[in-house]
Amino acid sequence: MRFEQPLFQLTRRRLLAGFLGVLAGVLVVFAAGISLFFEHALRERFDRQLVDFAHTAVASVDIEGGRFDFRSTPRPSDTAAADTLVQWFDWRGSPLRTLGAAGPGELTDGPPEAGRFQNWAGGWRSWCEAVYEPRSGNLVGYLRVVRPLGAIEENRRQLLWVLAAAIPAALLLSAAGGWWLTDLVIQPVEDTFRRLEQFTGDAGHELRSPLTAIMTNSAVALKYPEGMRPGDKQKFLLIEDASRQLLNLVQELLMLARSSNSGGQDARPVALAELTRASMAEFTPRAASQGLTLDYREAADGSNLWVRGKAEQLRCVLVNLLENAFKFTPPGGTITVSLARQEKRAWLTVADTGIGIAPADLPYIFDRFWQADRARRNRDGSGLGLAIARSIVEAHGGTISVESAPDRGSHFAVRLPLASTASRT
Ligand SMILES: Nc1ncnc2c1ncn2[C@@H]1O[C@H](COP(=O)(O)OP(=O)(O)OP(=O)(O)O)[C@@H](O)[C@H]1O
Ligand SMILES: [Mg+2]
Repeated sequence: MRFEQPLFQLTRRRLLAGFLGVLAGVLVVFAAGISLFFEHALRERFDRQLVDFAHTAVASVDIEGGRFDFRSTPRPSDTAAADTLVQWFDWRGSPLRTLGAAGPGELTDGPPEAGRFQNWAGGWRSWCEAVYEPRSGNLVGYLRVVRPLGAIEENRRQLLWVLAAAIPAALLLSAAGGWWLTDLVIQPVEDTFRRLEQFTGDAGHELRSPLTAIMTNSAVALKYPEGMRPGDKQKFLLIEDASRQLLNLVQELLMLARSSNSGGQDARPVALAELTRASMAEFTPRAASQGLTLDYREAADGSNLWVRGKAEQLRCVLVNLLENAFKFTPPGGTITVSLARQEKRAWLTVADTGIGIAPADLPYIFDRFWQADRARRNRDGSGLGLAIARSIVEAHGGTISVESAPDRGSHFAVRLPLASTASRT
């Protein structure tokens, strides 16, 4: 099955989301550019038409004795669109005549300003020309042409609608293409990752037998120390201890290699309460011998909390958290395990009153082979326990988090998605 590992599913979704986010940004900037350019072109054309119309109107008006003679002047509807308004003013700027569409109310109030475009309330725009008598060159008056900008607005709105529909369509198509592309990108990475996991698993498996042989042989030798030279017993003890540590490490590496696979087809319904109670029973004698109080709190509906996955792996999560709590809590302390439901998730917590974790260390505790200095000095372990726990929890679709303060204790919380009732059978 492809991308069954949550890490790769998450990477793929992030890659796609990032790609679509960038594309959406580019498309919006592109659309804004088109819209601005389109509006600018429309305005330029509008102004050119306004000036052309004014020139035609000036050329067609008769001048008699230094004044306009309107007797043979054509109506603007003969020469231009019906929404055009034409106004004539005498040389003092007093209105003489208005023809054409009803324009904005205040137009008649304003004095004509020759050679200028003017915008008026209600979305009107005008161009004014001064008219001179051809022979004397004396000012006869002014002609103002006014048209509504509505057509530009309408065209711009239409363009925006087209763009508003085109952008989501482009994103939808890109999402389909992007999905296929992420497939191409992630598949080789996942294959490599899988091969690496396989290698770790195989190497771990192969190492287990010789290590066990070394351990058993040194244990046998230590059982009969009579023939040994005085210093040899110490050496055998060291060999046994080192091989035990190595075997633990190999076992943890094996678990880590398998942890990112929560079972797929092999996943089974797991009753969390049962699993937790069994682990608690294992740790109870140890709590007594270490002088610790071990508490278990189960919510009333605890027995109904089922998750889908591998019981052995989920048990490993709890055991790793408990191992840590036992390792890092001095005698007299308390370890509390609780199981409850939180909406559609099971909520498993392990809290202790131990040495706690420094705030600066908190971001690293789930990293592989990471151990706080204080822990490294006094206790054994390889620093893989929490990395394994997180990998298993995430492979099961859950999350693991921690709250901790030095010398006050730590509180680990695991949230796992609950299995639907149908999938428990
Ligand atoms: N309950 C806890 N209280 C204080 N420190 C903790 C606790 N749990 C984890 N830590 C810190 O986080 C580190 C990493 O924990 P992790 O379980 O991964 O490794 P480990 O316990 O040192 O080794 P391993 O689990 O492989 O035997 C520990 O070394 C310790 O410094
Ligand atoms: Mg540990």
